[in-house]
Amino acid sequence: MSHKKPVTITTLNKFKESSEKFTCLTAYESTMASVISQSGVDVILVGDSLGMVIQGHDSTLPVTMDQLIYHLECVVNGNEGSHIMADMPFMSYATDDLGLENAKKLMQAGANSVKIEGGEWISKMAQVLSDRGIPVCAHMGLTPQTINRLGGHNVQGRDPSQKEKIITEALALEKAGASMLLLECVPGDLAQHITKELNIPVIGIGAGVHTDGQIMVIHDLLGISCLKKPPKFVKNFMKDSSSIQDAIKKYVMDVKSHKYPSKEHTFN
Ligand code: KIV
Repeated sequence: MSHKKPVTITTLNKFKESSEKFTCLTAYESTMASVISQSGVDVILVGDSLGMVIQGHDSTLPVTMDQLIYHLECVVNGNEGSHIMADMPFMSYATDDLGLENAKKLMQAGANSVKIEGGEWISKMAQVLSDRGIPVCAHMGLTPQTINRLGGHNVQGRDPSQKEKIITEALALEKAGASMLLLECVPGDLAQHITKELNIPVIGIGAGVHTDGQIMVIHDLLGISCLKKPPKFVKNFMKDSSSIQDAIKKYVMDVKSHKYPSKEHTFN
């Protein structure tokens, strides 16, 4: 199931055009990255979720650029053809200059794209990076780096004005040059609407069944989530699998065949 050719932005755009779902998983080290890419996962995210699942913090905020680069380099060493997306840590893109410098470091360490969190305020950053050849994934909805302002891990975009704002900002980000959008914890109908409106691939986590791609934190997929009660959208793929490899392959098959996520994993 491993990739015959490296997965690029063009590959992901083709998935969208042909309505074939694509898969994404987080990884933080080389052996797991190798297993994930050999299992046919299209995108590996070196996520700042490492602050929680690797470092044991209760948020992503303490993760530094140096730490992200260390884990990115480990993942790059194990990867066999998946597209590698690297998270830009909290405050690493607070200004255009800072964002440019830090995105440069991630790309030079082997990332194929970078992910930044926010709405309209990151449009400029998306444009600056994209103009310089760096593919950007804009992360919207529940944005863990702003957890203190959001006041908790709550579903975003339920009330009509919030919904309208997310749609407007998603369109603005595409116009500014974002190559991908990631929607976290939004109602399924909102994610469906945005996926239909945008030409760029939309990746979902807790965003229902209609996004172009799906992403999970690898620990959640393996049923070793650091949370006492896993969120509604999480499925433990280890439950019916005899190995980690089997669990990841099952995730890939279930996403491709529209079995995961299902209605039970979707917010209204
Ligand atoms: O850091 C991360 O793992 C993420 C996913 C939750 C999408 O941003």
